[in-house]
Amino acid sequence: MTAIIEIKGLTKQYFQGRVIKAVDGLNLIVQEGDIFGFVGPNGAGKTSTIRIMCTLLEATHGDILVAGHSVHREPIAVRKAIGYMPDFFGVYNDMLVWEYLDFFGACYEIPPANRKGLINDLLELVDLSHRREDRVESLSRGMKQRLSLARTLIHDPQVLVLDEPASGLDPRARVEIRQLLVELARMGKTIFFSTHILADVAEICTKVGIIEGGRLVASGSPEQLQQVILPHRQIHLEFVSSSDKDDALENHYDRSIEGFSAWLKAYPGVMNIEVLHNGANSDKAKSEGAARPDSLPAYTRIRLVVRFTGDDFSVSRLLQTLASQAGQYNLALIQFHEDSRDIEEIFMQATKGLVT
Ligand SMILES: Nc1ncnc2c1ncn2[C@@H]1O[C@H](COP(=O)(O)OP(=O)(O)O)[C@@H](O)[C@H]1O
Ligand SMILES: [Mg+2]
Repeated sequence: MTAIIEIKGLTKQYFQGRVIKAVDGLNLIVQEGDIFGFVGPNGAGKTSTIRIMCTLLEATHGDILVAGHSVHREPIAVRKAIGYMPDFFGVYNDMLVWEYLDFFGACYEIPPANRKGLINDLLELVDLSHRREDRVESLSRGMKQRLSLARTLIHDPQVLVLDEPASGLDPRARVEIRQLLVELARMGKTIFFSTHILADVAEICTKVGIIEGGRLVASGSPEQLQQVILPHRQIHLEFVSSSDKDDALENHYDRSIEGFSAWLKAYPGVMNIEVLHNGANSDKAKSEGAARPDSLPAYTRIRLVVRFTGDDFSVSRLLQTLASQAGQYNLALIQFHEDSRDIEEIFMQATKGLVT
């Protein structure tokens, strides 16, 4: 694998009466072919990092190499390697859709003879061929974002750097942008995009970096982040406990669950368990002094939540062992499922609740 973006000890300070540290010693490597999600709350330092990467802003300390070129020493080579999509569209009054692309083609010194075919191809790619003669300001926000994306491709750069490409879009337009990014990655582009919308990251990114207060708080593949940040898996179990004819259900139930809990707590990888009693003889009902109904059901359901550390195979072994062991305590397993831990939870955990 080849590193295509290398952020090295990057610091950006702004001076506004006081020093604002927008980026604080950031180190990050993006490999060629990655779809890299740069995730963080508002004010985390994403735009500052991106603007430095695109040579639009000077770093206070540190450097970024893009395709081996330093933003500080070789800005022109960096600009050739990068297609940049800003977080706002700008004003292009009176420009037609094709003229907009033609204008940027001219900026990149693409010969007029080549521009026509190129513009047609790009409009086709972003599904805007039918709007080529329309004014730019008549487009919806989603269409403007797609046109903006087409513009980043005009000089066929290796890397696309996109600042919040999906922000302000309705769900459908967001999905369209995502699909377009996947398509571009398939065409061989490396994609680095910032977002505070976590669904974008979970769906399409091969790598994720979480930034907060100008520092990288976690990075890796979505799966790696999950393992590091949320090592405990949460498994929900449900049992039925059957009553012996000559045994009061409550006593029977308490003994079953006590014995079984003790066994489960000692099982390798089990961090802790929580028993959620079900039915009339629940802890909650008892603590509230609620009267027990005269006739208890002939069986009761017992729910447990187990926090467990282990890989998928360990979970599978736990399931098999549980199912057979439960019988010894007159419990029969009827449900076993794991909570899905989504990227949102990882993000909340990684950013320590500082997210607003
Ligand atoms: N030109 C500027 N002058 C002063 N402070 C700025 C400037 N640009 C950004 N900041 C501050 O730097 C921090 C990071 O901002 P930014 O890079 O825009 O983060 P993000 O894109 O993650 O929201 C914020 O506290 C912001 O207020
Ligand atoms: Mg920003």
